Amino acid sequence: MSDEQHDTIDALSSENRTFAPSDDFKATSLVVDTSLYDEANTNDEAFWARQATELVDWEQEFDTVLDWQLPDAKWFEGGTLNVSYNCLDRHVAAGRGDKVAFHWEGEPGDKRTITYQALLDEVSQFANVLKGLGVKKGDRVNIYLPMIPEAAVAMLACARIGAPHSVVFGGFSSQSLSDRINDAEAKVLITADGGYRRGEVFPLKPAADEACESTPSIEHVVVVRRGGNDVTMVDGRDVWYHELMEGASTDCPAEPMEAEHLLFLLYTSGTTGKPKGIMHTTGGYLTHVTYTHKYVFDLQPETDVFWCTADVGWITGHSYIVYGPLSNGCTQVMYEGVPNYPANDRFWEIVEEYGVTIFYTAPTAIRTFMKWGADEPAKHDLSSLRLIGTVGEPINPEAWMWYHEHIGGGRCPIVDTWWQTETGGIMISPLPGATTTKPGSATFPLPGVSTELVDDDANVVPVGGGYLTLTRPWPGMLRGIWGDPERYQETYWSRFPDRYFAGDGAKLDDDGYLWLLGRVDDVMNVSGHRISTTEVESALVSHPSVAEAAVVGANDPTTGQAVFAYVILRGGADTDEATLRAHVAEEIGAIARPKRVFITPDLPKTRSGKIMRRLLRDVAEGRNIGDTTTLADASIVDELQAKAAESTAD
Ligand code: WTA
Repeated sequence: MSDEQHDTIDALSSENRTFAPSDDFKATSLVVDTSLYDEANTNDEAFWARQATELVDWEQEFDTVLDWQLPDAKWFEGGTLNVSYNCLDRHVAAGRGDKVAFHWEGEPGDKRTITYQALLDEVSQFANVLKGLGVKKGDRVNIYLPMIPEAAVAMLACARIGAPHSVVFGGFSSQSLSDRINDAEAKVLITADGGYRRGEVFPLKPAADEACESTPSIEHVVVVRRGGNDVTMVDGRDVWYHELMEGASTDCPAEPMEAEHLLFLLYTSGTTGKPKGIMHTTGGYLTHVTYTHKYVFDLQPETDVFWCTADVGWITGHSYIVYGPLSNGCTQVMYEGVPNYPANDRFWEIVEEYGVTIFYTAPTAIRTFMKWGADEPAKHDLSSLRLIGTVGEPINPEAWMWYHEHIGGGRCPIVDTWWQTETGGIMISPLPGATTTKPGSATFPLPGVSTELVDDDANVVPVGGGYLTLTRPWPGMLRGIWGDPERYQETYWSRFPDRYFAGDGAKLDDDGYLWLLGRVDDVMNVSGHRISTTEVESALVSHPSVAEAAVVGANDPTTGQAVFAYVILRGGADTDEATLRAHVAEEIGAIARPKRVFITPDLPKTRSGKIMRRLLRDVAEGRNIGDTTTLADASIVDELQAKAAESTAD
């Protein structure tokens, strides 16, 4: 445990408000007692098998539940199914073709209402388009799109024909895109001319073009027209989505896939510079996201309108915009743009307009709403909301209370959901009709999920702070890192014997509630997004003027953590903070742009030459620095502190 984690533990210890589910909420809730927990505790495999059978349609029933040979899990072997069939065809076949799948709203205010029947038709057409471009089962397809319905269409079309997709968030740079395309050796890239953000069109196609200069595996680029901005189409390689769709048939039967067929890759930052292609497969993943979406959000599929504000480029968008909600046949809102365009109440306007009943967002967004003031939500009727949730980072009790009062109207339960790209779906969360919540605690592992905290020596910690581990495999777990089985074993299964180590610190209080404390490794969490310190350091060092760089995540009142960089320039080189910040944005994407870059003649190092990150974090957070006697050159710290005290960058 670091010092700051101890501070957090101390701060959280004073939080003792509790919120039991109301009788009103319990009256319609799916789970109001401990029955699911009891069932799963008795036999977790039988529990998951029941979820798989009841919640998912199989072409062929599975004959084994779990084959577990650490670190390799195989769930539901012998079974075959199609994810796109489960998300679309089965609802249409049940007579719900006219039900709205998406109320989509573009940032400029344009709207599309897409029914399950219409979505099935568009997905089938696009699956035929992909086949026409030579995409076959097992071929990887990259997706680099704004938050438009075509993103969901593309993902489901891939699933329909068994081509694993790899979605890259539209905010990533061309360099990040080409790295991910090359790692996956994708055959086709699906992108758009551009999308809307803060009232302007941000171009995507030029970044895709730049990426494709160094991606030999790409044979075709499919371009959706969204921004209307000018683009260059490369002859023989680039094709317009709308042109291909015009002639495409809506008849494309969903092909049954083996339960362990690769459904998608999603890249996430680790502690080294190279992002990891996290592998998720078909039957287990679909079971996990369908189950969690149903029970964590206490879904009433006939009446609920679900809105998850994540981008499809992240795991939250995969699991709780595309696969979980559509598999459950629910109606959703999908929104393209930012929360403050044209004004700070855009989200609340959308909640009111569509009668959103379940709202799922990130703590960083909630802290931003707090900054904008309670007047913004108060302008709108939010009485349709009945349940609200958070994901992506620890939520501080003040933000929880604000959310409860000003968005939840004091009546909506809050589900604080802990999970990761690697877990596929939610792992720790209240069940809103059954769990008494405490502001800032994600409460308990879900039925079917087993967690334990351990200390440095792998001893179980029953109360107090420790490392969060998962003790049993679960259906949505990652099946590996694409192309790197050793790194998979090493990263997740080697720190503590027989346990998956999540990289997070947590605390168990006297009542057995879990309090997540953030990462214990060199991964930062900025606005709920994982960024590796090493990756930013490599980006900085790739600038011709930079000799050495050290990057830390420092606490930030809005974004949770912010990126602080310290760089040493090469002899004779000259550059400035703005240039280096822009360089990182260019290399990785705007989300990784450091808040501050300090140019310094030296870095604080231990006598063995290790950069003292904790010290750099102290400097960034404006803390007074204690003992620096182990430093190679203690005077550098004074210098850095003086620099940090200077006026802050934007
Ligand atoms: C953090 C996002 C505290 C955690 C779904 C985890 C959280 C990382 C919570 C995964 C939460 C996510 N409380 N911390 N409710 N949810 N985290 O892969 O550090 O983008 O390891 O998945 O986010 O981030 P990822």
